[in-house]
Amino acid sequence: MSLDVVILAAGQGTRMRSPRPKVLHRLAGKPMVCHVLDTARQLAADRLHVVVGHGSEAVRVALADHPVHFALQAEQKGTGHAVAQTLEALGQGKVLVLYGDVPLIRRETLEALLAQVSETRLGLLTVTLDDPTGYGRVLRNAAGEAVAIVEHKDASERERAVRECNTGILALTTAQLRRWLPRLSADNAQGEYYLTDVIAMAAAEGVAIATAQPADPLEVEGVNDRKQMARLERAYQAQLAERLMVQGVALLDPARLDVRGELRCGHDVEIDVGCVFEGEVELGEGVRIGAHCVIRDSHIGAETRVEPHSVIEGAVIAGRSRIGPFARLRPGSRLAVGAKVGNFVETKNVEVGEGSKINHLSYVGDASLGRDVNIGAGTITCNYDGANKHRTEIGDAAFIGSNSALVAPVSIGRGATVGAGSTISKDVADNALAVSRARQVSKADWPRPRKAKQH
Ligand code: UD1
Ligand code: CA
Repeated sequence: MSLDVVILAAGQGTRMRSPRPKVLHRLAGKPMVCHVLDTARQLAADRLHVVVGHGSEAVRVALADHPVHFALQAEQKGTGHAVAQTLEALGQGKVLVLYGDVPLIRRETLEALLAQVSETRLGLLTVTLDDPTGYGRVLRNAAGEAVAIVEHKDASERERAVRECNTGILALTTAQLRRWLPRLSADNAQGEYYLTDVIAMAAAEGVAIATAQPADPLEVEGVNDRKQMARLERAYQAQLAERLMVQGVALLDPARLDVRGELRCGHDVEIDVGCVFEGEVELGEGVRIGAHCVIRDSHIGAETRVEPHSVIEGAVIAGRSRIGPFARLRPGSRLAVGAKVGNFVETKNVEVGEGSKINHLSYVGDASLGRDVNIGAGTITCNYDGANKHRTEIGDAAFIGSNSALVAPVSIGRGATVGAGSTISKDVADNALAVSRARQVSKADWPRPRKAKQH
């Protein structure tokens, strides 16, 4: 049977107090609805439908790269009405209804639910809560079979005592939906078309209601305000941290780590507190990351040490490097084995050869450095003339004295030396010395000027 997944995302989310549609608020760096879409994709859904309403344009734009069908629910008349907006686009098989603001639902839970679905049975995901206030309650008959859902606002005192709640996640067939949705009525406390009313219709037809529970209640927790958002974020981060530790990563404090993307680690990686990893980051065997580093879309090779407070983005570090503290590697920084980038150094679009060092207070951009190059403190590659960027080439074993400005385009030969304080704007030959600073003048026993006496 084919599978359609319908993700409800038309609601407003007033309590977020944000102009942004709720489902676009980010969990671990990714919009909530994208977490749901990614999980849906893992189910090999044939079609993904997103029901949009509030802020529909923003949601469409945010999901432009996803292969989804948008159904517009111009007015929010309830969950049943929302699903009805997709009816025409549905295939012939199963339908799974998910919420765009319930981001942590797991694939395994959904697979188990879908396995229940047939023409004579549907799957309903429920959760038993200590405080069920606000949720739809699952009503069961004397035989213990689920027969209806009653919304909190419509429930009697006795029904409100039920702690088994509807999560909103439901799996059934399109044929069932086509039969039942047109029969929904808005004759209830909220004047809405409740999707939940299909449960009673199913029971009346003798269609069995198979209920399942998630392994972890967090999976079905929805986000309505910033506090819930932050709680889910921490819970999600705790899960990621646990997974990393199980893989053998040493986290000095699992509660002080944030991964917003994918972090892959080799053996014996150690990560100190307060680090943030974004996008795709790979840490090779034995890599140690100091406290409070931010690392984005980078590969950091084996046995590299990144000292505290370094910011690394779009870099490829081969291995055995030492970075920081307080280093900033910008996109296109490529370091060969054993290269060093020290404190208050910024690199961008640069190749640093094996064993080369840029240890202090430098900007090196649009450059290539051979092996065993030594860049003195305060060296600047002047790569930008106000209109264009130019390259600086530095040969193997060149030595750049401190506080030099290398005005690109320029090339420094192999084994060449640049005297400290030079401004180099012409190429330097292999093994040559170039010095361009003013000569020092010394005057012996020189008397300092004195203030003239006032009369
Ligand atoms: C719904 C369920 C309730 C369940 C609860 C779980 C119904 C009638 N009730 O209640 O049984 O316990 O979820 O959280 O289904 N949405 C739309 N269009 C609409 C209305 C809602 O897209 O017209 C979307 C919302 O954006 C949200 C989801 O559907 O993602 C649920 O809507 P919400 O208003 O939060 O439903 P509840 O009243 O909480
Ligand atoms: Ca809700």
